[in-house]
Amino acid sequence: MKLVVIGAQWGDEGKGKIVDFLARDADTVVRFSGGANAGHTIVHGRNTYKLHLVPSGIVYEDKRVILGTGMVIDPEALEKELEELSTAGVVWAGRVLISDRAHLVLPRYKRMDKDLDTKRAQPIGTTGRGIGVTYSMKSARDGVRVIDAFDDALLAALSQEDRDFLLEHREFFREMMVDVNSYMTDHGDENVLLEGAQGTLLDLDLGTYPFVSSGSSSANGAAVGAGFGPRELDRVVGVCKAYSTRVGNGPFPTEFESERDGDLEHVIRELGHEYGVTTGRPRRCGYLDLVALRYACRSNSIDTLALTHLDIYDSFEEIQVCVGYKVDGRVTELFPASRTAAANAEPVLKALPGWKASSAQARAFSELPTGAQDYVRYIEEYTGVSVEIISVGSDREHTIVERDPWTPS
Ligand code: IMP
Repeated sequence: MKLVVIGAQWGDEGKGKIVDFLARDADTVVRFSGGANAGHTIVHGRNTYKLHLVPSGIVYEDKRVILGTGMVIDPEALEKELEELSTAGVVWAGRVLISDRAHLVLPRYKRMDKDLDTKRAQPIGTTGRGIGVTYSMKSARDGVRVIDAFDDALLAALSQEDRDFLLEHREFFREMMVDVNSYMTDHGDENVLLEGAQGTLLDLDLGTYPFVSSGSSSANGAAVGAGFGPRELDRVVGVCKAYSTRVGNGPFPTEFESERDGDLEHVIRELGHEYGVTTGRPRRCGYLDLVALRYACRSNSIDTLALTHLDIYDSFEEIQVCVGYKVDGRVTELFPASRTAAANAEPVLKALPGWKASSAQARAFSELPTGAQDYVRYIEEYTGVSVEIISVGSDREHTIVERDPWTPS
């Protein structure tokens, strides 16, 4: 079976935990998009792992992980991350594969990335990991793929700096290189988990352009990024938080505003530890945006939602969710394509009762406080998609699984 897990908001939805949870039943985990801009936190017992490039399945000794074709890989960052995993006691040799068609991030791309962003009239707030420049080089047909690093004629045509960099690093990943399509043909019967990075609203095509990342972070990028044909994908799991966050610039209609919402931004940021894993930047926080979530459900063919951070709302008297936007005096339930409309959209908020009780002990939906159950039901009603996994804490055991996504439909 082939299961896709993607972010249904602006990234940082808690995909790391959900992927880690689902990886238990996978043979191979493939990351299909993005690069070292991502940050996935995984808590395994007393160990916490922070991953940027390596798919989350790495912490299981019996899983193979693949950095897929849709990724952009910084060889230095990969070496560093794998060294850190070794230090943490994770044995990864022979289990990490890299698509020979994935593109490489060169040092000058990182410099260009930061430089370009500072020169933009409205900076995007890039993580500065060279992601946008590498995808631009790829589209311009000037990029360097993993396989190209072993093509000496091609290397000879590169600048001294690029050539030296590739010659310095290529031996590290030579043995990891794989043709993902033929790998998948050979392992056709296995359970493959396709791990997305970032989130739908940061997807180059579906997101809040131009305030997006440059990869295909929606489910639509999963097939090509992981070396499958589109009919191979069995189910799509969308991960969303009980509220919303965003790192970097760009429209965020439900962002907390101190005049309207008091110190909610600060409260949620501290309760939810909302600081970027990659850059440490404080995340912008806001109400759950059901308009955006339904847009994500529809544009990704999401079969089931995994709702995370529900426990963050445990102490609240009342919780607001966004059920529409006011744009130019008119109410809409559609997610706007126009950057100006998205920037000016005012949320239409609906108050739902809080539950003022701990949800952390619940291991089944029926064990959640009634108000929390109602909150989840409201999300399902609005989006038309059932919430089948609920996370009520950072540990593995803080997870309610109403239906296991690996179960065939
Ligand atoms: P870039 O991908 O580094 O160019 O960043 C583009 C935008 O996407 C910036 O607003 C980043 O903050 C945001 N972004 C990139 N990766 C992530 C992520 O993994 N989580 C959340 N935001 C991200």
